[in-house]
Amino acid sequence: MKIILIGFMGAGKTSVAKILSDKTKLEHIELDELILKRAQQNSINDIFKLKGEIYFRELEQNIFIELHNSDNCIISTGGGIVTNGNTLSEYKGNGKVIFLNADFLKIKERLEDADNRPLFQNINEALILFNSRQELYLKNTDIIIDTNNLSVEEVVLEIDNILKV
Ligand code: S3P
Repeated sequence: MKIILIGFMGAGKTSVAKILSDKTKLEHIELDELILKRAQQNSINDIFKLKGEIYFRELEQNIFIELHNSDNCIISTGGGIVTNGNTLSEYKGNGKVIFLNADFLKIKERLEDADNRPLFQNINEALILFNSRQELYLKNTDIIIDTNNLSVEEVVLEIDNILKV
């Protein structure tokens, strides 16, 4: 069993992955953490600042592809994974892709540590990015969860129920 969580920054991917991992005993893999290790940097901001977004995207794509054969895990991706060519469509059938959807206003409300989100520094630009990504998330997912009115625990319950069916 492999679960891949996708969605915009602040959608709750990391929080959901942590609790879902406790509940299901599937290993939680945080893609951004692996990128930090590989880049030998302390923060996503530093990678963007010192190496640039293209470098970040290359690592993101390579590491995601390296995880192809991993199993019994929940991969919490970064919000931009869907912009990386066709990496996600390769996963259809290999894992369950779950899109945690939320309105932009909710995302803004929920977003903690916005300082370490280089692509969320300007709210207007973040909104444009959000709008341009929605279609990609929808296209590259198996399951959509509308998280607008759900707590993290409720999202986890919903996923757990889906997995049991
Ligand atoms: C990004 C999302 C971030 C992180 C990087 C780029 C994006 O991850 O990978 O700042 O392009 O949307 P989260 O979605 O976990 O915030």
